[in-house]
Amino acid sequence: MSSQTETDRSGPFDLLVVGGGIVGLAVAREAAAAGASVALVDREVVRGGDATDVAAGMLAPVGELDFGEPDLLKMNLDSASLYPDLCVELSSETGIETGYRRSGGLHVAPDADEAAVHRRMLELQVESGLDSRWLGPGRARELEPALSPSIHGAVFAADDGSVDPRMMALALEESATRSGAILLRGREIASLLLEDDRARGVRLADGPEILADETVLSCGAETGRLSWLEPDLRPPIRPVKGQVLELAGDPGDPICHRAIVSERVYVVPRPDGRVIVGATVEEKGWDRTVTAGGVHELLREAYRVLPEVAELEFLRASAGFRPGTPDNLPIVGRTVCSGLSLATGHYRNGVLLAPLTGRAVAGMLADGLDHAPGMEAADPGRFRSRAGVV
Ligand code: GLY
Repeated sequence: MSSQTETDRSGPFDLLVVGGGIVGLAVAREAAAAGASVALVDREVVRGGDATDVAAGMLAPVGELDFGEPDLLKMNLDSASLYPDLCVELSSETGIETGYRRSGGLHVAPDADEAAVHRRMLELQVESGLDSRWLGPGRARELEPALSPSIHGAVFAADDGSVDPRMMALALEESATRSGAILLRGREIASLLLEDDRARGVRLADGPEILADETVLSCGAETGRLSWLEPDLRPPIRPVKGQVLELAGDPGDPICHRAIVSERVYVVPRPDGRVIVGATVEEKGWDRTVTAGGVHELLREAYRVLPEVAELEFLRASAGFRPGTPDNLPIVGRTVCSGLSLATGHYRNGVLLAPLTGRAVAGMLADGLDHAPGMEAADPGRFRSRAGVV
């Protein structure tokens, strides 16, 4: 590795990642593990404050399936299939347990209207080759005894699972640094360094330059408004607010054993007894307020499917921003500026898509490819004709 520490110039690194959420960490970890010299810059002093830290961690290629999104389904399934081995590797490398579970998801209908919606989605899931099936109320309650007696049935989505995103990010960070990646936290960026129209790294706000052959931006929703990036290079990403609750339950007697999902809420149990209740979907720009209405809606809807949530201790409520894109696909690949790539825009699937994104971006850069392999549909070029961006 050719890095120096904290002089006026560091590098040149093979790769500089900007953004230390789960996606940036996955890219850094994958590249460092493959032998690249890697630096990662994040403006937060400690991990926290980004979408990773409020995410419930549902790994839900089935739960997130919608009509007309076959490319997203394929990427989601491909990334879900990387999770089991990755979590075993991370655990043996770092000793950090990610809380990964492939216990399926239960899409519960609290009333007849929602039952009709779930049955229609089940048709789509089965047409898409997914292992999902309808369970009547009795069968659903055998699987999850705390479900309300008044539910109208449920879809069991066998391919879904969950992970603790914070532990996953911690494990990726630890693994990346063990492979030699250098993490610079609490550092703002002042400008992109350009040489003959090629990106060559960044200048930090406190002075030093971090030189790199390739720079990857993984700043989540912020990527759409980076002040130090030319407007033409900013991807079309908007913040989509989500409010999330954290409750404390008994790990020895969990309220549920898998993600319980209805139209307006999901309840995700963690191995340590915590229960995550998420999430509102709000188009309110950069407003991060936790509102009484948001908390009320989440608790009301959770109570409809799992009345015992009322007994759990309320730990906290928080809000974060999903990086939304015009077509709900992520934005992963090279920009028109050589040496500058994007790994962002994962909207509702950042935690799920992190392993695939890490592998695809590291592979693209290592092999000098034009597109991120396995994520071609996410290439930034699809927006070029629209607005002259990215
Ligand atoms: N992945 C679930 C959400 O974005 O709320």
